[in-house]
Amino acid sequence: MKVLTVVGARPQFVKAAVVSRQLRRDHEEVLVHTGQHYDEGLSDVFFDELSIPRPDVNLGVGSDTHGRQTARMLEGLEAVVTERDPDVVLVYGDTNSTLAAAIAASKLDPPLAHVEAGMRSGSDIPEETNRVLTDHAADLLFAPSEEAAANLRSEGLTDGVHVSGDVGYDALLWARERADESVLGDVGVEDRAFVLATVHREANADDPDRLESIVAALAADPRRVVFPAHPRTTDRLREFGLYERATRELTVVDPVGYRQFVALLDAADVVATDSGGVQKEAFFLDTPCVTLREETEWVETVESDWNTLVGADEDAVRTALAEASTPDEKPSPYGDGDAARHIVEVLSDVV
Ligand code: UD1
Ligand code: UDP
Repeated sequence: MKVLTVVGARPQFVKAAVVSRQLRRDHEEVLVHTGQHYDEGLSDVFFDELSIPRPDVNLGVGSDTHGRQTARMLEGLEAVVTERDPDVVLVYGDTNSTLAAAIAASKLDPPLAHVEAGMRSGSDIPEETNRVLTDHAADLLFAPSEEAAANLRSEGLTDGVHVSGDVGYDALLWARERADESVLGDVGVEDRAFVLATVHREANADDPDRLESIVAALAADPRRVVFPAHPRTTDRLREFGLYERATRELTVVDPVGYRQFVALLDAADVVATDSGGVQKEAFFLDTPCVTLREETEWVETVESDWNTLVGADEDAVRTALAEASTPDEKPSPYGDGDAARHIVEVLSDVV
């Protein structure tokens, strides 16, 4: 079987790494990087740390508006899929790279397989558009949880749906064994004595009021706040005149590698984030999570009280950080850390 995998953004490198490792035991993989993320700290570091083979093709599309970025990817991917003629095109998650590959594959011969199918937050953020359109173009839909499969059913999607568990859990289990704790010394924090924060969603980073309110709430916390800042967020902090305050009152650092991030997340007292992946990783690592959004697609983490949705209101974020605690019980909605094997088995049976 020849699988053409399309990745482009940080969380996709993490997820593709575990599936790629499994896939390449018995099958051929053509790895295509769209170039959506290109900074060393958002891209190369993951290939190095996770031993992901170098991409066979890098389209080098870079940053742009949603339409232009997606269009450039689509043009490049159509040519690559035609030329490489794979048995299946494999995509992850909900970025513009995911959608572009879904459109390219669905208009050509190979079937499309979507990992993280059925995730829904019920909002109209760009990622939800990408999720819905990709699922409706896909032939094989790998849902991380039963709830995700139910979402697909409610949209009339039943054929080709497999509850595989979450590849993010596989990745986390791999990284937890290899967590790079040197980062704790590098940023000068001790176990359980700090807050970890990440912000990169358009709705927070590009909105001056929300971003200011988040910075104020983090700055008000009595604990140290370690803030590995996505380049979008660093740019906006500067543009909105918040950078001085953020760097004075928080420990703002460049994005860190995955093994360092897992070490920080495991050691943190609590995490404040608008990331999808980080909410879930916090859940796996028993670190309470305060989510800086009004909704989430990882609903099971909220239903089990491990995650609190607070949005960006300053008082709400402050209170949630102060009150965050670990519930006594935790369900296991995302499988047993064996999703990659399951996905590769289904692919090789069906394709
Ligand atoms: C994208 C995804 C988002 C995902 C996130 C993971 C979409 C619509 N969004 O958001 O779902 O959660 O990746 O991190 O696909 N930039 C750099 N260097 C880079 C990449 C980006 O400086 O290597 C800056 C550019 O100014 C760019 C901005 O970040 O305009 C946003 O990048 P983009 O890839 O468009 O979206 P993300 O916010 O990274
Ligand atoms: N991550 C990382 N370094 C950082 C911040 C995040 O390695 O400085 C990892 C994190 O562990 C998770 C993934 O990046 O696996 C999440 O990516 P992001 O928050 O950018 O995207 P989302 O999950 O929201 O799509």
